[in-house]
Amino acid sequence: MSHLYFGGVDVVELAEEYGTPLYITDENRLISNFRSYKAAFEGYYDTDIYYAVKANGNLAILKLLAREGAGADVFSTGELQLTKLAGIKTDKILFNGNSRSDEDLIMAVESGVKVSVDSSDELNALATVAEQLGKDVEIAIRVNPDVSPDVNPKIATGLKESKFGVPYTGIVELCKSASNKRNISLVGLHCHIGSQILDVSVFSEAADKMLELVTSLYEIGIELEFVDLGGGLGIAYRPDEIAPTPADLRDAILPAFERAEIAPPKLILEPGRSIVGPASILVSRVNAVKRAYKNFVAIDAGFNLLIRPAMYDAYHEVVVANRYNEPCSEVYTVVGPICESGDIIARDRRLPAVRRGDLIAIFDTGAYGFSMSSQYNGRPRCAEVLVKDGHIDLIRERESFDDIIRNQRIPPRLVQQA
Ligand code: LLP
Repeated sequence: MSHLYFGGVDVVELAEEYGTPLYITDENRLISNFRSYKAAFEGYYDTDIYYAVKANGNLAILKLLAREGAGADVFSTGELQLTKLAGIKTDKILFNGNSRSDEDLIMAVESGVKVSVDSSDELNALATVAEQLGKDVEIAIRVNPDVSPDVNPKIATGLKESKFGVPYTGIVELCKSASNKRNISLVGLHCHIGSQILDVSVFSEAADKMLELVTSLYEIGIELEFVDLGGGLGIAYRPDEIAPTPADLRDAILPAFERAEIAPPKLILEPGRSIVGPASILVSRVNAVKRAYKNFVAIDAGFNLLIRPAMYDAYHEVVVANRYNEPCSEVYTVVGPICESGDIIARDRRLPAVRRGDLIAIFDTGAYGFSMSSQYNGRPRCAEVLVKDGHIDLIRERESFDDIIRNQRIPPRLVQQA
């Protein structure tokens, strides 16, 4: 019986030792994905890679990326604190967001990170906070570039109807107003057009639009330090998909910089999925096999741990880890343990005959897997391990029932008198 190996480790042995469900991350893949970004841009253009923490905020993973020189795109004060804990340098952190409280803005200003501003309302609030604290803050303006990538509408973020950013046509005015504000220093423009983008031509369109804005600003005396084009590079979830590489992204973006009539500012990118996505698998135990209208395989991980199939109809490749490479003789729909019909991990897949107790490995789950997990149905979240050349480290303990009740309080009037 052949077993699936991941990061030099027998996945079946890992599942025995750490239990299931279990997220497993291969350090070498993670690092090589990050390095391929660095290699694609080094020597071509002054570029910083700000890893998108929302994709996977595990501290061990952040520490590894910090060591490689990554900056960070954070979308909340929680993510901001995670990156700081991991040792990512303040001057390489961009605090993004579209709905931030005064407390959020105070933390942003006090910690000295750059802030991407999403509206004129937010700009005013940030200026007030900075003035009260007597501190300066560097900002970028989030541009809504009105470009339309061919992706699930839920993960397209630069459409004109998207909630993110300031309409393209209002940018110059807002930048003028920003540069007149005390304590505010306008240093960049930012956009993020969407995620899981396989056709990179849309990045060229976004780069062109952003550089047009940079040029218009230059002409009125506003010089920027950077243009941040966000993340979004897709990965090959399906066996027949071909993922664009960071070098493809470079070739799509840089012509716009080369064509610019002014000396263009540096480039920032915010990849998430393409760095962590392919670096992890989720391993789950089969609890039941049922022949009904369809052949169902019921596993112990559902949309509580991997919501992408339920939320975006996303495809993830699945294999039987303890009988890897056996001929696929049956068609199964792999479902989770959650009390909802939408709790489907994989539909109509050819697998070897599956039995209770088998292990299903779900591929490419490093991005927006654990980071979108929940305790729905009273299920503690699972453990995570990091593997490298056969070496194993636990990087997140399995939650227990205590974690489910930890912050709950029973009002004294509901506590029964003896
Ligand atoms: N920068 C900003 C401002 C973002 O909002 C995002 C992702 C990224 C960078 C990173 O994008 P990436 O390189 O990972 O595509 N939960 C969805 C994806 C949501 C993406 C949200 N923003 C999914 O599972 O497909």
